Amino acid sequence: MMNSALILGPGALGRLLAAYLDQQNRVALIGRQASSRPINLVTPEGEILSRPVPRITADQAPRQPALVHLATKAYAAQQALAELAEHIDPATPLVLWQNGFQVQEPLTRRWPGPVLCATTTEGAYTQGEDGVVHAGRGHTFVGHLDGGYPELADNVAKMLARASLSAEPCDDTRRRLWHKLAVNAAINPLVARYRIRNGQLRDRPFRPMVTAIIGDLNSVMEAEGITTPENGWEAMIWKVIETTANNRASMLQDVLANRPTERDAILGPLFEAARRHDIATPHLNALWDSTP
Ligand SMILES: NC(=O)c1ccc[n+]([C@@H]2O[C@H](COP(=O)([O-])OP(=O)(O)OC[C@H]3O[C@@H](n4cnc5c(N)ncnc54)[C@H](OP(=O)(O)O)[C@@H]3O)[C@@H](O)[C@H]2O)c1
Repeated sequence: MMNSALILGPGALGRLLAAYLDQQNRVALIGRQASSRPINLVTPEGEILSRPVPRITADQAPRQPALVHLATKAYAAQQALAELAEHIDPATPLVLWQNGFQVQEPLTRRWPGPVLCATTTEGAYTQGEDGVVHAGRGHTFVGHLDGGYPELADNVAKMLARASLSAEPCDDTRRRLWHKLAVNAAINPLVARYRIRNGQLRDRPFRPMVTAIIGDLNSVMEAEGITTPENGWEAMIWKVIETTANNRASMLQDVLANRPTERDAILGPLFEAARRHDIATPHLNALWDSTP
């Protein structure tokens, strides 16, 4: 029988992956505490499903898992993986699910096994100790930063798709991660600071702030050699604001819940790139200073 896939980080995304993948594959969810309670999934259609996913601690992990889905926040990813790495084969393939572009490059270079990155528009949040609400269906792209391991990316995408999580492999992961980062940078810090829903960015006084930030993003992306979206950064970012108008972005949810935000993972890579290319980013700088 195929070895279990492990999901490291039993938060919103980890529980979501566990609850769906469990229908088709052997999976175990790794957290700080083991539990014998099932995961309760609320589907976007409102169905409530109970999944008996094994929930274990890192030291109980099988030595040779088929794969590890790393599903912590970006700031916790390296530490969580280091704890698990003591117990599993270093050749184990990893899938990184973090937003931003903070952990993807170092883990891809340092982890001895293959490393894929996933970018997803699935939306989920936790409910109580054991629940996850699948708030909105999305799509996931999965691939290696440099386009390597296409067969593995294909298998992972198929595994997700078989479990009803729409997914496809891609060979332009780096570009997709930077595009998502640009969208997150234009939306998340502002909505978190002003505690507004995404759609309110369309109105004054926020609209010109978004436009100014897109100007900075444009310069950084160009210098970094990231292909401009088909209709330009403005069109891409305003379209996301439009389609997510009613949403409370993850960074706002973190601020409201008094949790740390993923500010560093989202804005940090932009500053590093700006420094490397000697580009002034006054609006991004102001965003950094005002983001929790
Ligand atoms: N939620 C979504 O809909 C969604 C969508 C797209 C992308 N993402 C991205 O996916 C990543 C995870 O997001 P999330 O919403 O699932 O975050 P989350 O709800 O905060 O879950 C992260 C989980 O990781 C656990 N964790 C942290 N360090 C750990 C360690 N050393 N050992 C074991 N578990 C550890 C946390 O436990 P503690 O609470 O005990 O620290 C928490 O349960 C983020 O980068 C996010 O941007 C999320």
